[in-house]
Amino acid sequence: MHYTVQRMIINILVGTMTGTAQMCAQEMELALDGDDLQVVTHLMDKLEPTIFTDRQAVYLICTSTYGQGDVPDNAKALYAALGAQKPDLAGVRYGVFGLGDRTYAETFNFGGKRFDELLSGLGAERIGERYTHDASSGTLPEEVAIEWAEAWVANVRETYSAA
Ligand SMILES: Cc1cc2nc3c(=O)[nH]c(=O)nc-3n(C[C@H](O)[C@H](O)[C@H](O)COP(=O)(O)O)c2cc1C
Repeated sequence: MHYTVQRMIINILVGTMTGTAQMCAQEMELALDGDDLQVVTHLMDKLEPTIFTDRQAVYLICTSTYGQGDVPDNAKALYAALGAQKPDLAGVRYGVFGLGDRTYAETFNFGGKRFDELLSGLGAERIGERYTHDASSGTLPEEVAIEWAEAWVANVRETYSAA
């Protein structure tokens, strides 16, 4: 008999302007991808709301913040399409690793916050707390990302085994 064990899929969706969020995603992918976990990193550029149709997968929004608390340019089309089409995202599980800078006190980490509010408003369920990296903190986001993502995945596994 031959059994295939299905690996849990984590789709990391990256919103970035100057590549920091992408670097974080790559580090998280390297750290997490393995025997029972498949990590796929997607830049948000060409994504459509249908990316969220796989209810077996888990989604990780990894995005920075620009302008006046806006999502980065490469995330704008997906963000707008979700808001316009309002797909029912019940059963979708996601996490948020946000990047920002506290110098922008009024709009700190709004990119991740906006996605979080949008997805939960469409019925998706966030796993764990939204992470808010601060570029002025002196910590390297790509290092923090690995540590955070490992703890987040442990959290995800708990919700899987509870389901
Ligand atoms: C022009 C500009 C505007 C920014 N606006 C915000 C903001 O409103 N809120 C925030 O928290 N961070 C803001 N940031 C900080 C970035 O989100 C932060 O540096 C992030 O690490 C960049 O990641 P990225 O390279 O993936 O785009 C801004 C940065 C720049 C250069």
